[in-house]
Amino acid sequence: MSEINTEDNWRYAFKASKLKPGKKKMIRVGKKLILLLNVDGDYFATEALCRHMRWPLAYGAKVKDDCIRCPLHQTTHKITDGSLVEWSPFPLLPAYGKLVGKFSKQKDLKTYQIRVLGEDLQVYI
Ligand code: FES
Repeated sequence: MSEINTEDNWRYAFKASKLKPGKKKMIRVGKKLILLLNVDGDYFATEALCRHMRWPLAYGAKVKDDCIRCPLHQTTHKITDGSLVEWSPFPLLPAYGKLVGKFSKQKDLKTYQIRVLGEDLQVYI
């Protein structure tokens, strides 16, 4: 019986010291675009593009109460597990947000395990 080496799935992502608290960074690991976040010293990794209309969350997304909110139509997901909190609510009047929200299927945001190894951030792919 062979053992699966899960260490092979950890990939270098970024220098931990360069991702300061409150900052986010979009990176590419292999073919995946990943968003790295430092929230008060805790690191998170999610897919980099909004699930709604693929806006790059590194540009303008706000992080608050363990949630990330896209600046375009304010779709909001938990950064801890990617679960959907609110889908395209903005703007409310006219109800353009709700309308464009129907253009795509509601989905959770993919999240990745992240760890610090030495001076490096690594994500589990
Ligand atoms: S593109 Fe992010 S909420 Fe619409």
